Amino acid sequence: MRKKQMIETNRRMGMSEPLAISGVYLARDERVIQVRSDEPLTVVSSAVVGGDLERTKHIVNMHVHKSYDCRAPKDDLQLVARELGIIEPFVGMMTAAKLDRAQVIVECDSQTTVIAIVTVGLSHPIAAGVTPAHRAEPGTINSILVVDAQMTRAARVNAIITATEAKTLALIEAGNRAPHGGFASGTGTDAIVIASTERGSTVEYAGPIAPIGALIGRAVRRAIQNALHAKKEGRIHCFSDKERRGLYRAIYDRRDVRSHFTSEPIADDVLARLLDAAHHAPSVGFMQPWNFIIIQNREVRRNIHDIFVSANQAAAELYDGERRSLYNRLKLAGILEAPINLCVTCDETTLRGHGLGRQTMPETALYSTVCAVQNLWLAARAEGVGVGWVSILDVDELRTTLRIPEEVVPVAYLCLGYVTEFGTEPDLEIKGWEQRAPLAGLIHFERYGATDEVRAGELLSSISTDRESKDKS
Ligand SMILES: Cc1cc2nc3c(=O)[nH]c(=O)nc-3n(C[C@H](O)[C@H](O)[C@H](O)COP(=O)(O)O)c2cc1C
Repeated sequence: MRKKQMIETNRRMGMSEPLAISGVYLARDERVIQVRSDEPLTVVSSAVVGGDLERTKHIVNMHVHKSYDCRAPKDDLQLVARELGIIEPFVGMMTAAKLDRAQVIVECDSQTTVIAIVTVGLSHPIAAGVTPAHRAEPGTINSILVVDAQMTRAARVNAIITATEAKTLALIEAGNRAPHGGFASGTGTDAIVIASTERGSTVEYAGPIAPIGALIGRAVRRAIQNALHAKKEGRIHCFSDKERRGLYRAIYDRRDVRSHFTSEPIADDVLARLLDAAHHAPSVGFMQPWNFIIIQNREVRRNIHDIFVSANQAAAELYDGERRSLYNRLKLAGILEAPINLCVTCDETTLRGHGLGRQTMPETALYSTVCAVQNLWLAARAEGVGVGWVSILDVDELRTTLRIPEEVVPVAYLCLGYVTEFGTEPDLEIKGWEQRAPLAGLIHFERYGATDEVRAGELLSSISTDRESKDKS
């Protein structure tokens, strides 16, 4: 199963691009970064695969998911290398960092060129000397440094020190801290490769103030700075954690409510916020086709309830046997119990929006109204107000009762009120009518019908991790 998964999710790499050091090339996609050299590079590395190698033409940095189980990294890297057509010994690393954010930095002086190819994953920052020993988790800073020079063995070790110091400095400068205290000096599984072409004059020193060390330090520091900046930029518009949790809570804890209404009235300011939330829904061409009929009058609600009762009886007759008796046991409306009923309508004839977006899809007016309903539903959950949608109604009778003109569509009939409880799951699920479908089976890749439960499972695996950590907090 593991093998199948690896093979299926891998693809051939795209074209490789020549780097600023002649004979050295870079190929990358979202799955793998590959540095390839026409001539063997002399290497020293802490890589998972090929850490003992002295010479190689291939350096690979492979992406793994955050939930990667770390059981057989060498096997997985070998598999990917084989797929890339690498038959010789290679140096291989892994990272959960996004490879499209890999930084490729070139630094040169009159003597030599240094290229840093750095991926920055900072999910598990540590402070060396502070963080206690613990199990490794993916979330890694991987640095590949290609140096166009001959280097002594001591210079290579020197280069590792310089690159590491530059990395740590960039992290500290950006204010990154580790969970056990102290500034982050890196992550628990950072890896480095120093690869030299062994051309030109011999370099003996690569400390931070040696010419080549200065290039290495600058390249690594810039790479980390850029990566951290890119990460921040990408998230600059996102809500704070607390705000996001609030939004997702409204989404996950929203329920269709038909029972447990209390008689507590909904204050005008709360109702106003709900209507205004609805009014801020997206709409095609900004046509805002919605209108809201607030229904509190007992007589009107009784009429609507009667319409529901006959429609519900007719609906029940469409089922047989056990399904019918289950249907009859369901409570499918709270028209009389809820203090406010609200009918959300859609005027498809409104000139607002000048028809934009509707020539091709006229039904988008209705879709827009449904977006308004969902806005109201979520806002209501945040306000502690239960909402139940009743569609078991004869539309013509509803129109007549509420005097809705023919060109206006009654989209949603809603029952609103404070409730003594919100179910943790849909009522229809609890009562055994229907279950939530597994999301992985509903995701198609590139074309309809191309579901891939393994790939979708991988895509969705962070949700369970997020939920677990939320449960713990
Ligand atoms: C368009 C629409 C019409 C609905 N009509 C009814 C209805 O007539 N009676 C009812 O009990 N629930 C109705 N529901 C609520 C669904 O049964 C409910 O959303 C679903 O079971 C999932 O439960 P949840 O909303 O609590 O997550 C409707 C929902 C939608 C979106």
